[in-house]
Amino acid sequence: MRTPVIAGNWKMHKTTGEARALARAIREGMSETDHCQVVVAPPYTALAAVAEEIRSSRVFLAAQNVHWEPKGAFTGEVSIAMLEELGCGMAIIGHSERRQYFAETDETVNRKVRAVVQSQLQAIVCIGETLPQRESGSYHQVITQQLAGGLAGLTHQTLLRIILAYEPVWAIGTGRTASPETAQEVHGSIRDWLSQKFGREAAQQVRILYGGSVKPDNIADLMRQPDIDGALVGGACLEAESFLRIVRFNS
Ligand code: PGA
Repeated sequence: MRTPVIAGNWKMHKTTGEARALARAIREGMSETDHCQVVVAPPYTALAAVAEEIRSSRVFLAAQNVHWEPKGAFTGEVSIAMLEELGCGMAIIGHSERRQYFAETDETVNRKVRAVVQSQLQAIVCIGETLPQRESGSYHQVITQQLAGGLAGLTHQTLLRIILAYEPVWAIGTGRTASPETAQEVHGSIRDWLSQKFGREAAQQVRILYGGSVKPDNIADLMRQPDIDGALVGGACLEAESFLRIVRFNS
């Protein structure tokens, strides 16, 4: 019922030339794929080139961030309309690296989410606890707080414009993937929370991705969990071969 999403977050990797080559290899390697939605999120500078490479393919284009204001004196920021014009269909919001290094908070995440759900873009909203929060057992509380803060003001209709990504910070870039059971436990609780807030019907439709050291050899087990609807992939998406093996998780 929920179409899986496999999204590659390229972070601050790939010049325009490199991005073009990777996008082309992904497009060529996945021509027949229809069991999942494939998303690539190159850096801003490569969005136009990648958009050209994936034109009339099944690959979706995402940005790694977006600003909530439509225009103005916000040096270094990029608006929703600028992304839409380039052919972006999605924007990642609140990635833990943005929270950690660029002062992103639940409040700024919420401003972005509220702006994006009023546009043509879909938001991929990231949440997840740090290692000390996991170890102290407070992670459910942390995640609930991020959900309540980040999704404040959404209705059951606008909720359907977002995709969630549970990314435990201790699993990002560390090679330490959450076990399928550990991830499922959180995914299930996220869906319960959504259900209470927005109703069961809406909650059942929201895709919840897992992120954090997703690799070709662990994706299949993760995808077998009932509430894991896809993956947000960092390191393993920078080579077409490994990203395509993740895309083909079902074969
Ligand atoms: P990783 O990154 O796959 O390299 O752990 C995931 C992410 O940050 O989205």
